[in-house]
Amino acid sequence: MLEAKLEPPVISYIAGVRACEVSELWTKALDLLDSMLGARVDPAAADSPREGRYVHDFEAGGPKDVFKHIVLVALLQQMAAEDADPFTFIDMHAASGVYDLSSEETLRYRMFERGVLRLSHAAARSGEGLVADYLATVRRCNQVLGSSSRALTLYPGSPALAWQWLRPQDTIVLFEAAAEPYEALRRSFSLLDRGVGRRLSLLHDDSYLRLTSGPWPWPSGRQLVLLDPPYDSVQSQHTWNVFALRRLLQKSPSSCVAMWYPLVDQERVAGLHSRVQSLGAGSVLVAEVWLGGSWPRGGALQGSGMLVVNPPPALHAQLLAALPELRESLRATGSRVLWL
Ligand SMILES: C[S@@+](CC[C@H](N)C(=O)[O-])C[C@H]1O[C@@H](n2cnc3c(N)ncnc32)[C@H](O)[C@@H]1O
Repeated sequence: MLEAKLEPPVISYIAGVRACEVSELWTKALDLLDSMLGARVDPAAADSPREGRYVHDFEAGGPKDVFKHIVLVALLQQMAAEDADPFTFIDMHAASGVYDLSSEETLRYRMFERGVLRLSHAAARSGEGLVADYLATVRRCNQVLGSSSRALTLYPGSPALAWQWLRPQDTIVLFEAAAEPYEALRRSFSLLDRGVGRRLSLLHDDSYLRLTSGPWPWPSGRQLVLLDPPYDSVQSQHTWNVFALRRLLQKSPSSCVAMWYPLVDQERVAGLHSRVQSLGAGSVLVAEVWLGGSWPRGGALQGSGMLVVNPPPALHAQLLAALPELRESLRATGSRVLWL
């Protein structure tokens, strides 16, 4: 179709990308996504109906979320160090921002009990380091949002955690494509933003489309970008995020980009690592926690990985120091930190 200069429908593009993935033609898959977005074909048109969609509230504060957020806090600490230049935090998949731990959704699988609550109980024994800093950020967010209880009643997602670390000179840009989480995000930030007056952009938009085509100007200067899985944009999250990573690094080679990925099996993880290596990105640090066991939700998902391109210098040592405590508190079966 492309050779005949006919514009294929989204479904043909997605089928083409899937075929390239299966045949391990990764560069071709990324090029197809490039031409699809360049032609302004909307990937959301390939989505399944709303009922089947991913709802982050089910996972909020669970072990996989907690691990991602601990790495994020380590990055924010260093990006927002007292004497560091201003930076922009870009959350490509913001979701709702803050989660009520007594809602029907969060109580459905009670993932937060295995995650943030386990950590919080265990940390009562230690009290300093990265895990303690992360928990202090979670508590601060509860206080800012008016929770009077000593127990945690709210769980801050990546946008709200970042908000606690940004300085007046920094900027936060939050993308959320789906209507419901976007409305929740807006409500969360109307409470968080009271009088703080930080530079905030809330965008009800597809971040991949914005990355490839205007009208929104991608920021310049220091950046910290968080890529979570798109889940329901299309089935293949790795391809989308490797694609986004390639684009981000073309736009701004020195950006610090943190990408979460699921640990399903060793083979898929190794495949993702080698695809990222083939982009020729700068230095890439990887941290993983294997959780094992049986899970009420997503039984196939064995753990949580974070891949950080252009990490700040102290991240490696910070993660090495935090992982033993984290592994013990989350009752994880394994963990590792390595350079790709
Ligand atoms: C895993 S959740 C994000 C969690 C959040 N980053 C956190 O750590 O608290 C993924 C979210 O991305 C949204 N999403 C999926 N594809 C998107 C896209 N292309 N642009 C913007 N948002 C997207 C989904 O609607 C969903 O709310």
